[in-house]
Amino acid sequence: MSDTPIPAAITPDSQAVSTQVKRSAIFIVATIGPDAASRDTVRAWCADVGNLVRAVAKRIPDAGLSCICGFGSDAWDAVFGGTRPAGLHPFREFGAGERHAKATPGDILLHIRADQMDLCFELATHLMKRLGSTVTAVDEVHGFRYFDQRSMVGFVDGTENPSGREAVLFTVIGEEDPEFSGGSYALIQKYLHDMTGWNKLPVEMQERIIGRTKLDNIELDESVKPSSSHSSLTTLEENGEEIKILRDNMPFGRPGSGEFGTFFIGYARSPAPIEQMLENMFVGRPPGNYDRLLDFSRAVTGGLFFVPSEAMLEDLADRQPGAPSSAKTAS
Ligand code: HEM
Repeated sequence: MSDTPIPAAITPDSQAVSTQVKRSAIFIVATIGPDAASRDTVRAWCADVGNLVRAVAKRIPDAGLSCICGFGSDAWDAVFGGTRPAGLHPFREFGAGERHAKATPGDILLHIRADQMDLCFELATHLMKRLGSTVTAVDEVHGFRYFDQRSMVGFVDGTENPSGREAVLFTVIGEEDPEFSGGSYALIQKYLHDMTGWNKLPVEMQERIIGRTKLDNIELDESVKPSSSHSSLTTLEENGEEIKILRDNMPFGRPGSGEFGTFFIGYARSPAPIEQMLENMFVGRPPGNYDRLLDFSRAVTGGLFFVPSEAMLEDLADRQPGAPSSAKTAS
């Protein structure tokens, strides 16, 4: 994989999908009002996003503020019309037994990251103020980095993420969909955990569920790692090559209310590998051999979004619904 050249045209223009790991994040999922005025406002807003990110980021450059903005399938047609990203469709549900990866409403996704929550908060405030009453926030999660990148269930999260050139290759759309090159797909799910039940399990059992050791984060040897472990079921191969996605899960919660959660976000250049992972986790590979993490974790939201390139996001402001795309692609 490392010998494959990155198409020069698509990298500088992508939104900050593969940014460095940050300490704080705000995720906002919003729906857009059904009237034409709301759609006009959202289109105009697309041209403002980049300026607002730059303006807020400039105040504390070292905090590395970034924002990803994505659109759901129905919103794409209603607001922008014309040609559509090849892989964009409504969230595909998977389920068996008690497990259900369900779809929930969402037209716009904002994924704001920085090393300081105050910057995330400031940017979210400006972005939402510009959208005003044209959108309704249907979910908002403020996530934090937990010690040494621990997930809410206590294991280090993100170790097997691709980085650098590999991250770009796995997440940025290229020539397979030229009009949308430089874009990406983001799949999100908000999980709530039964931490009381999880913490009752002996650590060795938790380790077999995740597929890694808990304290020192070492992958279990194949001879002891169950095929139902989280890491086994989310490892995909095609023609002998591993297909990766880029995750930036964030813990969140309210201990006073007994809420303990993980906001899952996965980026890829096609939704297919993330959906395959979901099917493996929820239904099982083979069916029935499912991810035991789901006995202690419930997905309460689910959404799939197309993340346009930076240039395309700005140009979406000029797009006429129903007309062929006028948006520039990064070429
Ligand atoms: C309940 C929510 C989840 C939690 C707490 C969680 C946690 C973890 C942890 C601790 C690891 C091991 C370290 C690492 O490589 O990151 C991991 C690996 C991984 N997870 Fe998750 N995860 C969750 C949901 C998901 C979902 C929904 C997907 C995909 C649809 C996914 C995909 C992956 C992948 C691809 C890996 C790397 C596997 C490998 O190459 O070994 N995870 N996750």
